[in-house]
Amino acid sequence: MAVIETFGLSRNFGKTIAVEDVTLAVEAGEVLGFLGPNGAGKTTTIRMLAGMIAPTEGYAIVAGHRTDRDMEQLHEMVGMLTQTPGLYDRLSARRNLQYFASFYPSVESQSQVEKYLKLMGLWERRDSKAGTFSKGMKQRLALARALVHEPKVLFLDEPTAGLDPEAAGEVRQLIRTLREEGRTVFLSTHNLNEAEMLCSRIAVIHTRLLALDTPEQLRRRFFRRQIIVQLEASDAKVMEVVKSLPFVQEARGEGSQLILELTDLERNRPELVKAIVEAGGRVIGVSEKQYPLEDVYLKLIREESGNES
Ligand SMILES: Nc1ncnc2c1ncn2[C@@H]1O[C@H](COP(=O)(O)OP(=O)(O)OP(=O)(O)O)[C@@H](O)[C@H]1O
Ligand SMILES: [Mg+2]
Repeated sequence: MAVIETFGLSRNFGKTIAVEDVTLAVEAGEVLGFLGPNGAGKTTTIRMLAGMIAPTEGYAIVAGHRTDRDMEQLHEMVGMLTQTPGLYDRLSARRNLQYFASFYPSVESQSQVEKYLKLMGLWERRDSKAGTFSKGMKQRLALARALVHEPKVLFLDEPTAGLDPEAAGEVRQLIRTLREEGRTVFLSTHNLNEAEMLCSRIAVIHTRLLALDTPEQLRRRFFRRQIIVQLEASDAKVMEVVKSLPFVQEARGEGSQLILELTDLERNRPELVKAIVEAGGRVIGVSEKQYPLEDVYLKLIREESGNES
């Protein structure tokens, strides 16, 4: 079941087209990675999905509500982390959360505030003013704010940007927990490794939606599957034998590695290894070549700018 659906979603700011004709669906319980260069329209899309700004064309339905019409109901269902935390510097961490929790009449604010201050590791600092917090602490407080009413859908706009590796890791762990709890997460990030670690599917936007698929399928779109056979040492005889196999379509050597394209990567693998061993090759390992998601992303973006000119 789709929890987020957009239909030709578009937004202009004067003459600037920020988002154009984006149609997509995010399933319940999915963590969707939302990628794109600076100025690609990620934040604008998120703001439309969370009901903060209206689209100029098209519309979106989130948790069953039109984001440009049913704002009240929508706010109960969604939580949002923006790129600027939007906290009250002069209020303590606890007062900040109490304030935001008070927007939701159905929320047991006392216990929820306590729960999230503890979960975010801010309990010890609950009475310190938010203005005295480091960037990472502010980010954790902002996350607590996004979660305090237990929303089903979360919009996280670059939640790990500017955090140290440990703090970023903690935020990622939290996102995994949200996923396990069955919440739907719309995650914008510039960190492709992070996207791959956390997301079932990845959307790439550059004003228009360029792609939306699993990382695996995105790779296949640009790269043919290749197998890497790691040998003990490079071996000309083995190479010759490998090249003569009927199911080997491409073969090249890189040091002690053979990089091969096979007719059927899974089914041909045992026969391949057998032939190498029979030819006297000593096989240390066999694996599929993994192209970094970054290579896929850059190809997508370059393909797009190529189309424009
Ligand atoms: N309030 C606004 N007024 C005018 N233009 C805006 C406004 N908000 C966004 N834009 C423009 O819309 C485009 C998309 O901006 P947006 O903030 O959505 O990009 P983004 O993908 O989030 O970028 P980043 O990775 O830098 O956060 C940009 O050209 C930006 O200048
Ligand atoms: Mg942004």
